[in-house]
Amino acid sequence: MAEPATVLPPPPSSPVRLVTARPRGTIPPPFGEPTGVRRVSFVELQKIGDARGDLVVAELDKHVPFLVERMYALVNVPSNADRGGHAHKELEQVLVVLSGGFELVVDDGAHRQSIFLDEQTRGVYLRPMVWRELRRFRPGTVCVVLASSVYEEGDYLRDYDSFKAELRARGLDRPSPASSGVHRLSSVYPVDPARRTG
Ligand code: TYD
Repeated sequence: MAEPATVLPPPPSSPVRLVTARPRGTIPPPFGEPTGVRRVSFVELQKIGDARGDLVVAELDKHVPFLVERMYALVNVPSNADRGGHAHKELEQVLVVLSGGFELVVDDGAHRQSIFLDEQTRGVYLRPMVWRELRRFRPGTVCVVLASSVYEEGDYLRDYDSFKAELRARGLDRPSPASSGVHRLSSVYPVDPARRTG
């Protein structure tokens, strides 16, 4: 007589599944220290140093609020190169500069802010629907990007007008309490309504 098949219990429900099950088209909750631009914040990474050198640590929930499906790095970038020039519909990212530095311009459709990133433990968390431009790279810059999803060209908005249209379609163009007071920040300025960028 055949042995009865072993029935395994279902896997325990895990918070990881909740993270990945976020419905498409929704913006994840804030995380980190707000900037003057919506959906952009600073995250403080951990540094563990001794005489043998330093470790820079980014851990789920402590420093990064999403599961990392992909890592890529910006390296060998000429100082006169302009990178970025797009937004993402769903992708979340944390940018960390491990060497050198560059200027990151972020834009939520209403306000723009220029951030010079050159500290190894000061990451920038970009939630979906943030227009970004990267420029003024110092020689030898190494920027690691932690991303919530694998590469998907269909997630990009590579045209500023399409970005604005998607903001309107998702009701993200309306002022929110989080944006009040940003005019007082010197490095934040309103977006020119006539702005056209590709
Ligand atoms: P892009 O994201 O536009 O670069 P950046 O924002 O740094 O200027 O990507 C440049 C090219 O590389 C583009 O053709 C898409 C491709 N690419 C991949 O194939 N996989 C990836 O993970 C990334 C980030 C880009």
